[in-house]
Amino acid sequence: MSLKAIATPFTRLLSRSNSFLQIPIVGAPMAGASGAKLATEVTLGGAYGFIPAGYRDAAVLRKELDIARQLLRVPPTATLPLGVAYFGWKLKEQGDAVATELLDASLQNNVQAIWFSFWDKGQSKWARYIREADANRPEPRNTIIFVLVTSVEEALLAVNEWKADVIVAQGMEAGGHGAVQAPPIRELVSSILSALPDAEKRPPILAAGGISNGSQVAEFLRQGASGAVLGTRFLVSPESTYTAGQKSALLAATSDSTVRSVKFDESRNTLGWPEGADGRGLRNALAKEFESRDVNMDTLKKKVAEATKKDEPDYMVTWAGLGVGALKEIKGAQDIVRELHEELLQHHVTAKSSL
Ligand SMILES: Cc1cc2nc3c(=O)[nH]c(=O)nc-3n(C[C@H](O)[C@H](O)[C@H](O)COP(=O)(O)O)c2cc1C
Repeated sequence: MSLKAIATPFTRLLSRSNSFLQIPIVGAPMAGASGAKLATEVTLGGAYGFIPAGYRDAAVLRKELDIARQLLRVPPTATLPLGVAYFGWKLKEQGDAVATELLDASLQNNVQAIWFSFWDKGQSKWARYIREADANRPEPRNTIIFVLVTSVEEALLAVNEWKADVIVAQGMEAGGHGAVQAPPIRELVSSILSALPDAEKRPPILAAGGISNGSQVAEFLRQGASGAVLGTRFLVSPESTYTAGQKSALLAATSDSTVRSVKFDESRNTLGWPEGADGRGLRNALAKEFESRDVNMDTLKKKVAEATKKDEPDYMVTWAGLGVGALKEIKGAQDIVRELHEELLQHHVTAKSSL
């Protein structure tokens, strides 16, 4: 039985060239944990899927996009109803030539949306690059630009400099990378809404961080957000690329099982993140060890490399948000979206500010 669609400014914006979207929920791009399979299942379920391009090169990204197109049965000339996400800092590290190659892979595949996170001030040029490429196509397109922010100051830059179509407000509860100084998500959404009071003029604001069910999404809609981004909730789907060991560690975790730290990246040598960025992951044996004063990082790095090879999650980095305690079983991404949709319908009360 099909469920009633829920419209917000976010779904109205995306539905112009996307017949799949039914609810204002986005499946987060998750570098190291998601790809074309998870993103397409999220889209097919009626939410909005993203492929992470963060650590990929253009050839691998193009392959992922081919897989997505086949799974969604969308012809090459039509809009691909999902998005691709880039790390601003990584594009900068790779240099403009590689960065444009990576962005062109998405543009030439007609992806509907492009997402930027962990960027710095000079990088709004990439939004202009996309708009220009869109205007110069034989058939003009309007790639939707999502910009992830962790403060009001960044939200204002996203609106004024990036001219973002959608703002993702990421709070301190979020799994994976985030900002050390990020406020709790409710606080962040509320201060961004106050800084951008004109509901007609501001882009849709999505809440991200620690959200695991439809009732929480409904709360954010009542607050004035136009939708939500969920990452951790999808980590225990068969389509997530996390290992079996990581998925069982996630299922065993409770809501107090995570911690934010820069040491996760240090312990597995994924360096290069901008100052002020850290990440939230499972507070496993690895985390407890690097919290101790007399830890030897070199020995710990070897342990992490060995454990990662053997899929031993106690010494692996497993990113997860504060909503991890809600993960009870492995479930297909389409079924997760359906469950969220049902919960959202149950708890959703039309709020004029958000609809
Ligand atoms: C495993 C994992 C990987 C992530 N990778 C990315 C990424 O590649 N790009 C990005 O912008 N955000 C990434 N994030 C953060 C998400 O965009 C989102 O803000 C977060 O998942 C929301 O919080 P939640 O996990 O508590 O739902 C990642 C999160 C997780 C859990």
